[in-house]
Amino acid sequence: MFWKSKAQNEDEIIVRQANPSDARGIISCMQSVMDERKYLVSEYYLLTERGEQERIRNPDDLTLVCEHRKEIVGVLTVQRGMYRKNRHVGTMGIAIKAGYRHRGLGTRMITEAIEWCRKQGILKLNLEVFSSNTNAISLYEKIGFEREGVRRKQFIIDGEYVDDILMTYWTMPEVLNGGVEGQQKQ
Ligand SMILES: CC(C)(COP(=O)(O)OP(=O)(O)OC[C@H]1O[C@@H](n2cnc3c(N)ncnc32)[C@H](O)[C@@H]1OP(=O)(O)O)[C@@H](O)C(=O)NCCC(=O)NCCS
Repeated sequence: MFWKSKAQNEDEIIVRQANPSDARGIISCMQSVMDERKYLVSEYYLLTERGEQERIRNPDDLTLVCEHRKEIVGVLTVQRGMYRKNRHVGTMGIAIKAGYRHRGLGTRMITEAIEWCRKQGILKLNLEVFSSNTNAISLYEKIGFEREGVRRKQFIIDGEYVDDILMTYWTMPEVLNGGVEGQQKQ
């Protein structure tokens, strides 16, 4: 992959692919965002350190991290569909620690993820986002994600109903106008 894996100076935040040794830092970063309770469905990170290491090693999945002073401050994952019928689809999740948002890290990670998907032959990159997360939705739309659907009143957050917005990014938009012919048959 084309990004650098070492910071040039101690204040630089780098975006790189995760190693199994990042598992603990990833769990701690994810848990800190889950503790905010307003952006992610799960409130506890479900994988153990070992489970996380196995996920990082899975060549069908992508895990990107932002690293600042040896601390993991952002995580992006793409999980490729595991069946023949949905291997052309990826599902993305992203979480950046409070204090590191609005500096372009989300944009950098998502751009790298889209490039990775293209190289893997993943045509659709899906995500789900709470309708209350207007910051994230406007960023996704700016990058080119489209709204594909909505599950109304799918969640209750702080005593309010919240919709689940389904969004997708077409990594090879020409596919929209054609069948599977000419595409990679997995
Ligand atoms: C949503 C999230 C991933 C976005 O990542 P981010 O790093 O904050 O996003 P970026 O900095 O790339 O872009 C966010 C905004 O900052 C702006 N921005 C980018 N670089 C900037 C910079 N150097 N200085 C100031 N603003 C900047 C962008 O233009 C964008 O503006 P907009 O929202 O008005 O369009 C992140 O905020 C996050 O993890 N939030 C909490 C968890 C969450 O919501 N996860 C997603 C669940 S679906």
